[in-house]
Amino acid sequence: MSAHEISGVSVLVTGASRGFGRAITTAFAKAGAEVVGVSRDRIRLEELRVELGPGFAPVVADAVDPVTAGQLIDQYRPTVLVLNAGANPLARPLQRHTWQTFSRNWEVDVKHAFNWTREALLLPLDPGSVVIAMSSGAAVNGSPLSGGYAGAKAAIRFLTRYAADESERAALGIRFISLLPKLTPATDLGSAAVAAYAARDGQDVAAYLEKTGPALTAEQVGRSVLELAVGLANDRDAYLLTAAGLTPLP
Ligand SMILES: NC(=O)c1ccc[n+]([C@@H]2O[C@H](COP(=O)([O-])OP(=O)(O)OC[C@H]3O[C@@H](n4cnc5c(N)ncnc54)[C@H](OP(=O)(O)O)[C@@H]3O)[C@@H](O)[C@H]2O)c1
Repeated sequence: MSAHEISGVSVLVTGASRGFGRAITTAFAKAGAEVVGVSRDRIRLEELRVELGPGFAPVVADAVDPVTAGQLIDQYRPTVLVLNAGANPLARPLQRHTWQTFSRNWEVDVKHAFNWTREALLLPLDPGSVVIAMSSGAAVNGSPLSGGYAGAKAAIRFLTRYAADESERAALGIRFISLLPKLTPATDLGSAAVAAYAARDGQDVAAYLEKTGPALTAEQVGRSVLELAVGLANDRDAYLLTAAGLTPLP
């Protein structure tokens, strides 16, 4: 797929209502794709529909539900599937977590990535399709105030690589890529985490951000996912994303 060929292509984004998902949806819709956005927030999805016009179809649903994954994959057969939905982890040190709070991102992020990836392989999506799953820089560096978040995001990177192997073994022609963005205050999830890490270091947010360097914007995430979908970056199965851009991971 080249940049101009994205026009008219079917794209499905989970977690489209806010943050990265909203920016990814906007980037594809503005490039002329037909975008389906899934989230539980009817009002925000409706606002996005008004903003983006007829190229955007809102679907109010729980992306973790395996029935939702199966039905929407069958109905839309997306050429580009972006598995972005993720829960906001409780920002506390390990001993202040319960198993329920620790495992939240496994129950939401990993379960959702597993269900949709499985459906993409089973259908299967058409050759030339691409599935981009949102992991995190935390999968490499850890995230000590987020319970099981970093482990969950590492599991998403692994399961995406396993899916890439299965696609290759069965000659399905579906690309599977995981994206590992660096923590940024640009979204609800990121700003809560940045505030927690700043407080832990005894700093205000501005001082903490100065130390951690230029912040990734949601718009950069949208552009980078579009870039990966059209295959402009050299083809690898995982990429780190910082304000400086995409870096392929080994
Ligand atoms: N921000 C960062 O610094 C950062 C860094 C690395 C990775 N990430 C990852 O990037 C992804 C997006 O994060 P964000 O920062 O944009 O967070 P955000 O602003 O909190 O947005 C999260 C999105 O996920 C959706 N979502 C959550 N549970 C859902 C469910 N069960 N069904 C459907 N949608 C669901 C939310 O929609 P509704 O609530 O409307 O359903 C919302 O649209 C997440 O996977 C996150 O872990 C973020």
